[in-house]
Amino acid sequence: MTQPVRLERHGALALIVVHNPPVNALSAAVRQGLEACLHEAMEDADISAVLLAADGRTFPAGADISEFNSPPQAPALGDLCNMIETSEKPVVAALHGTVLGGGLELAMAAHYRVAEETTLLGLPEVKLGLLPGAGGTQRTPRLVGIKVALDMMLSGLPIKAVDADRLGLIDKVSPLKTLRVDAAALAAEMRDVRRTRDARSQFEDGAACMADIAARRSVPGRPLASRKIIDCVEAALLVPFEIGLDMERDAFTECLASDASAGLRHAFFAERHATKFPELAQAKPQQVDTVGVVGAGLMGSGIAMACLDAGFAVTVVEQGEAGVTGALARIGALYEKGLAKGQMGEGALTDLNLTTGMEALGTADLIIECASEDAQVKRDIFTRLGLVAKPGTVLASNTSYLDLEPLARASGRMPDVLALHFFAPAHRMSLVEIGVPDAANAQAVATAHGLAKVLGKTPVRSTAAPGLIGNQMLTAYRATADRLLLRGAQPAQVDAAMRSFGMPMGPYEAQDYSGLDIAWARRKAMKNPDPEALLLPDILCEAEQFGRKSGKGYYVYNSEGKRGAANPEMLTMLAGERRMRPLARLAITPELIQDHLLVALINAGAGLLEAGTAARPGDIDVVMVHGFGYPRHKGGPMHQADALTPFEVARRINLYAQADPAHWHPAPLLSRLAAERMRFSQYGAAGMQK
Ligand code: 3HC
Repeated sequence: MTQPVRLERHGALALIVVHNPPVNALSAAVRQGLEACLHEAMEDADISAVLLAADGRTFPAGADISEFNSPPQAPALGDLCNMIETSEKPVVAALHGTVLGGGLELAMAAHYRVAEETTLLGLPEVKLGLLPGAGGTQRTPRLVGIKVALDMMLSGLPIKAVDADRLGLIDKVSPLKTLRVDAAALAAEMRDVRRTRDARSQFEDGAACMADIAARRSVPGRPLASRKIIDCVEAALLVPFEIGLDMERDAFTECLASDASAGLRHAFFAERHATKFPELAQAKPQQVDTVGVVGAGLMGSGIAMACLDAGFAVTVVEQGEAGVTGALARIGALYEKGLAKGQMGEGALTDLNLTTGMEALGTADLIIECASEDAQVKRDIFTRLGLVAKPGTVLASNTSYLDLEPLARASGRMPDVLALHFFAPAHRMSLVEIGVPDAANAQAVATAHGLAKVLGKTPVRSTAAPGLIGNQMLTAYRATADRLLLRGAQPAQVDAAMRSFGMPMGPYEAQDYSGLDIAWARRKAMKNPDPEALLLPDILCEAEQFGRKSGKGYYVYNSEGKRGAANPEMLTMLAGERRMRPLARLAITPELIQDHLLVALINAGAGLLEAGTAARPGDIDVVMVHGFGYPRHKGGPMHQADALTPFEVARRINLYAQADPAHWHPAPLLSRLAAERMRFSQYGAAGMQK
C-alpha cells in the first residue's frame, strides 16, 4: 500500500510529499507520516533543508473533517506545525491547488512559502462552525495583519496566489509546472529559518488593530465560531504566542462540540453524498451544447438565464408574439440585474434564440418544459417534443407535482423523460431535484445530472413520486402549520416562530409572496382532496385575496408590495373556520410551533425514505437547506432527528396524535427506528430496508 507521506532525498534537500487522494486531507495517518518524516529529516546530518509538498490535485485542503466525530488521535496538527516552525533547518512549503484550513496552517508554520500561480489559499473553518485550530488564528495575523486575517477567517473565502503574495502570506508565485524546482531553489538559497511566531511588524499600529477588532465585535448576531475567531485574533495582538495557541485550542474544542458545527459538518458531507447518483456508475453523460426551454414564465426565464450564464446556447420557445416579447423582457431584466451586480458575463444574451416554433428545438441536446402546471398543456408539449427532438435528447419537465408517466407516454420516448425541478428564482437557487421515473434510462439521468453540475447547482435524486422530495416535505410542513391555526395560532405567530428558528420566511409570508392562487389551482385539480385540510386559503382565493400580488392575503401589502399587519379579513375568516371545526386549543408558544413543524418534517422525511422517494436521510436535508433555506447550521430535519433520537421524535408525535389523531400519523419507519433505538443515519447502512 502507498504510504500517505514519503521522504525523498535530493542531495541535501529532504522532499516530504503528502499522498492522500483526493484532497490530501490531514488524516491521522498523514499526520503520523509527516511526524516520522520530519523527525528523519531533522535528525539526518546530511539534510540541510526540507521541502513540504503534495501529490495530486492539491496541497492538503485541510484537516480530515470525517475524523472530527471521533476522539482525536496523536499527533495533533498544531503540534506538527510547532515542530516545523521550531525546526533549525529551513522548511519551505510548495503549494498548489486549494490550500485550505489545516493545509494553510501547515504552510504558515513553514519558514517560506512558494505557490503555483493558480493556487487558492483560505481558512474556511468558519463554514464548518469552527475556527483554524492549528495555530491559524495566531500565525495569519502575524503574516497579513489583523484586517486581512479577519476577512479571511470570518468569510472563509479563499484568496488567489497573486493576492497572497501581495499581502505577505506567501513569498513567491511560481509559474505552472515549475513549482517544485522553484521551491527547491528557494530552500537552497535560504540558509536561515524565519519563524512566523516571531513576526510582529503587522502589529505596529496597535490602535488601528484594536479599532478593527472592536468594529468586528460590534456586529450583532455573530455565531460562536466567528466570535471566537475575533477573540483569538485579538489574543494574537495582545498575548504571547504560546498563550494565544492555548486560547485557540480551547476555542476550537468548544466550537467542535457545538450543535452548529455538527450541523454544518453534516451538511458538508450530505451535499457530497447527495450528488452521487447510482446512474453515474452505469452511464456517461451525453454532451450538451444547446438547451431548449419551453415556456419562459418566471421559472423558464430563470432556467434560461442560468443556462446562458453557464455558457450553453439556449433556445426558448414561447407562444405567439406576446409570449416572445414577455420572455425577452423577463430574461433581459434578469440579465441587466446580473450585469449590474457583476454576476454575469457580457456575452450571455448572444447565445439566446427566442422563437415561437417548436421545430427550433430539433438541435437541442436537452429540453426543459416549463409550461403552466396543467396536465393537458404539458401532454401536448411532450407530444410535440416527441416529434421534433432529435433521437436521444433528454426531455425534462420542471414539474414536481404532476405525474410524469402520461407526459413520457405522450412523447413516445419513455426512457428519455424525467423531471428537472428547479427552485425559484432558478438562476439563483442552488437546488435541482431530478425526479427519475422507473422507465428513465441511466444516460438521461447522467446527462441531467451533468447539466445541473455545470450550472453550479446541487442535484438531488428523487423517484418521480408526485411532489418529489421537496414539495412532499413542504406539504407536510404547511399542513401542520395549518393545523396549528385551527388550534389557536395566528399566521403571524407561526411566521415569527419559524423565522426565529432560522427559516428565511415563515410559511404564510412565503405563500403570500409566491401567490396563493398557485396552490389553489392545484387543490382544485386534485381528485382526492384532504378532508382535514384548512379551508382558509381557498376562502381567501375565492375572495380574490391571493397574497402580495393582490394587496391582501395572510397579510396586507402597500402599493409597493411591502408587507404590513395581519389581514383583518383573513383573521375573521379564520375565526369562522375555527367555530365550524372545533379542535382542542393549544397554548401556543414559539417553541411549540417550532417543535410541531420540526417533527412534522421528520415524520414526512421518514415516509419518503420508506417509500424510497429519497435514498438517504441526508438527501432530504440537502433539499431542505438548498431548496427552502432551512438553517444550514441545524444540518436539516433528519440530522436533527438523529440528534434528538428517533425514539424521542416518535414519543412526541405519539403525544400529539393523542390530542389530534386525525392529523398525526407516525411514519412506520420512525416507529421502527424508535423501537430498535436506531438513528436515521443507520437506516440503509444496517440493511434495515422495508
Ligand atoms: N476532509 C475530509 N474529506 C474531504 C475534505 C476534508 N477536509 N475535503 C474534501 N473532502 C472529500 C469530499 O468529502 C469528497 O469525498 P467523496 O469523493 O468521497 O465525496 C472528496 O474529498 C472531494 O471533495 P469535493 O467533492 O468537495 O471536491 P471539489 O474538487 O469540488 O472541492 C475542495 C475540493 C475545495 C477541497 C472541497 O472539498 C472543500 O472545500 N473541502 C473542505 C475544505 C475545508 O473545509 N478545509 C478545512 C477543514 S477543517 C480544518 O482544517 C481544521 C484545522 O484548522 C485544524
